[in-house]
Amino acid sequence: MHIVFAASECLPFIKTGGLADVIGSLPREIARKGHQVTVYLPFYRQVREHFPEKKIALPSLTIPFQYYNRFAAVVDGGKRDGVQYFFIDCPELFDRESPYATPAGDYPDNWERFGLFCRAVLEASKQLGIPDIFHVHDWQTSLLPVYLRTVYYFDPLLRNVGTVLTIHNAGYHGLFPPVTVERLLLPWDIFTPEKVEFYDSFNFLKGGIVYADMLTTVSHKYAEEIQTPEFGHGLEGVLHKRASDLRGILNGVDYSKWDPATDGRIAAHYSIEDLEGKAECKRDLLHAFGAPHLSEDTAVLGIVSRLATQKGFDLTAQIIERLTFENIFLVVLGTGEPYYENLFRSLHERFPEKISVRITYDETLAHKIEAGADIYLMPSRYEPCGLNQIYSLKYGTVPVVRATGGLDDTIEEWDPQTHTGTGFKFANYAADDYLQAVQRALTVFKDKTAWRTLMRNGMKQDYSWAKPSSEYIEVYQEVARRRS
Ligand code: ADP
Ligand code: GLC
Repeated sequence: MHIVFAASECLPFIKTGGLADVIGSLPREIARKGHQVTVYLPFYRQVREHFPEKKIALPSLTIPFQYYNRFAAVVDGGKRDGVQYFFIDCPELFDRESPYATPAGDYPDNWERFGLFCRAVLEASKQLGIPDIFHVHDWQTSLLPVYLRTVYYFDPLLRNVGTVLTIHNAGYHGLFPPVTVERLLLPWDIFTPEKVEFYDSFNFLKGGIVYADMLTTVSHKYAEEIQTPEFGHGLEGVLHKRASDLRGILNGVDYSKWDPATDGRIAAHYSIEDLEGKAECKRDLLHAFGAPHLSEDTAVLGIVSRLATQKGFDLTAQIIERLTFENIFLVVLGTGEPYYENLFRSLHERFPEKISVRITYDETLAHKIEAGADIYLMPSRYEPCGLNQIYSLKYGTVPVVRATGGLDDTIEEWDPQTHTGTGFKFANYAADDYLQAVQRALTVFKDKTAWRTLMRNGMKQDYSWAKPSSEYIEVYQEVARRRS
């Protein structure tokens, strides 16, 4: 089969969150299994920096809008690990400081940027290779199936092509005013509550949910959760309607980048057989966070995250004062919403001996935290999959998580009797429950033998892409069967 991925981020070119990790590794795994795979991305400024000499695959696609045309070129990114990369180049829309937003907010023309991107992928595919399946991701590429089943309906080249939408995060919809429908030259009859209308806005993600042949999301638990009012962000009705076409496929991770035995960004290597190097990584991390004086016995808690409401930082803020009575040190790496950036800055000012914060995006530091911390905190309000807790398992950094979405699917509660389990979980989104989970972790931390067993239980887990990539291939095959 030929699969075309259309996505808004992908390693090693551009990353803001876990979507980039997934698009950077899943296509390679599908290609390794013998399928033809093409990935399309916008030619953002950050992507352009990877291609000082740009090779043009198609010099000019005409993308019509209501009152004007835009023209996009297709840049050939070449083949890497069996995957062909193409980039949609439209400098007026993509040559910007960041992919989606500035600190002042989302780009107001995101409807046009991602509308153009989706349509350009359809047009480019007609010349560069028509796939069996378009696999799109989140709201940014959700218009592709909408275009395909409306204005491209009668296109003989495209009409039998299947579509799969993966929802990485149902909390981001891509909401735009109704007039966007005609600005994008879409038919007005899609603007109904059964299709793309959402409380008088055009909801891009909803369009993908309605028009894609099959839907997946990134864990089993989240596939169930998003059909409920608590987690559906208002889309639970339409998701429930499509429940028979919705699959939960847990993300894999790329162990060629995230393995303490080979990781080139950490101070010392270690593995399940020989844990010794982890102590050196802890010293290195404490040094990087300005606390080289702390001893082995201090439990180092780590956080690496987009600073967004989703991630549960208000809970961490609520328990931090009570945690200061314990022998702990919290290191935080993140950027995002100014509210949370300031929250962590102020926590550091209040408790400089207990918490150190880096408000930045830094891949090396992210690896150092995974390797050097003892405990990883992820008390998310909701978490479609979550990658950091999976990385943490591999690094023997014990996760404390809220039992939601992928966090619940990947972490098993430690049982002090049987010495099974990989971490600590709490169910209710409540500070006391979270604090108790952290305290359970700190109790085991003091028992070095039990702690090493717990670390090894996590390090043994295998979350490679081998199994999930086969599950995606089954979904593609099912869609292709339905379309043939
Ligand atoms: P989400 O996609 O919701 O942000 P995930 O856990 O799936 O959450 O993925 C987050 C990814 O982004 C991980 O690879 C994590 O290491 C990385 N990341 C997040 N914030 C930073 C940061 N400030 N510096 C470096 N890497 C970060
Ligand atoms: C989203 C989710 C995260 C998931 C990632 C990759 O950003 O918030 O839980 O791991 O996508 O699928």
